[in-house]
Amino acid sequence: MSVVLGVESSCDETGFGIVADGVLLGQGLASSAAQHAEFGGVVPEIAARAHLEAAVPTLQLALQDAGVELGDITHVAATSGPGLATAVHVGLAAAKSIAWSLDLPLYGVHHLAGHAAADTLEHGPLPERSIVLIVSGGHSSILHVGDLVRDPIEHLGDTLDDAAGEAFDKVSRLLGLGYPGGPAISRAAQGGDPTAFAFPQALMRADDPRYTFSFSGLKTSVARTVETLERRGEPVPVADVAASFEAAVVDALVTKALRAVQDRGLDTLVIVGGVAANARLRAVAQERCDALGVQLRVPPPSLCTDNGAMIAAVGDLLVRAGAEPSGLGIGADPSAVLHGAQLPLP
Ligand code: KG4
Ligand code: ZN
Repeated sequence: MSVVLGVESSCDETGFGIVADGVLLGQGLASSAAQHAEFGGVVPEIAARAHLEAAVPTLQLALQDAGVELGDITHVAATSGPGLATAVHVGLAAAKSIAWSLDLPLYGVHHLAGHAAADTLEHGPLPERSIVLIVSGGHSSILHVGDLVRDPIEHLGDTLDDAAGEAFDKVSRLLGLGYPGGPAISRAAQGGDPTAFAFPQALMRADDPRYTFSFSGLKTSVARTVETLERRGEPVPVADVAASFEAAVVDALVTKALRAVQDRGLDTLVIVGGVAANARLRAVAQERCDALGVQLRVPPPSLCTDNGAMIAAVGDLLVRAGAEPSGLGIGADPSAVLHGAQLPLP
């Protein structure tokens, strides 16, 4: 049996995960988020330094958690893109050192395919075809997915400007709620009224592109609202602004993703990526999927945000599909587009 070690370092999480035959054996995770908080966003150099410091202890945590020895690992998989170049380099170099010293095959993995594979660790293999909504700090895409590691991935739509997570982070900053913005907005929104402000939703008219998102106008509208209130010397109702913003993002995401499911005559929607940890997104998607008889799959929140388990999950699928290893010569591809789960594309 293969025992695959996955390595993730594309942003501010250092993750190692160990997967065998579709089963997560254990994982270790370290985050440098607290070190970026004062800057309001991830500082690549700080993230890279933190990965370097966290790599060995986090690998040890993963091995302990899984109850395996380094010598039990049979294959290594690592995020080789997309992500912050300096950050990806650290994890990829660590993965290469492990693979070379233990004489193991190395697979380069597309980070976003990792997000999709995370769901298989909780809910088993994906159906033959599904619509996958990926919502992270850098991407918001609607994908038509078949076999995650064998079939090409069809992009139905992306965002024209900010990613959903990026919008959460920027709005959080302007409301003074800190970084990372998603969990902060979500907490602030709990006591708020999602109908208090009718923030504009872009590209939602019938003749607009059906699967394309745009969140920068929404973010600007929140900024104008806050500015106007402050200029008038009125208090900013943070909870109501956060709840109304969150409701607008969630509505756009769920509406367009379900449109794709129906247009393609499919019956499964998979929502993954950091923003999939959002409680409102999970609840609204569940409600609307139930109403349409669509099966909704969302990983548990801890597997939505970046981690090493999801990269090991892709590695495990590649190994079991008989894919050729990417080899020790692979480089980082910081802006890799998601056409397939393995990098570089074989
Ligand atoms: O997938 P991820 O961990 O990293 C990237 O690949 O980008 O996603 C991080 C993003 C951040 O923008 C963060 O604010 C957002 O996911 N996020 C959330 C929540 N938790 C994380 N957004 C909304 N609600 C949450 N609970
Ligand atoms: Zn991610």
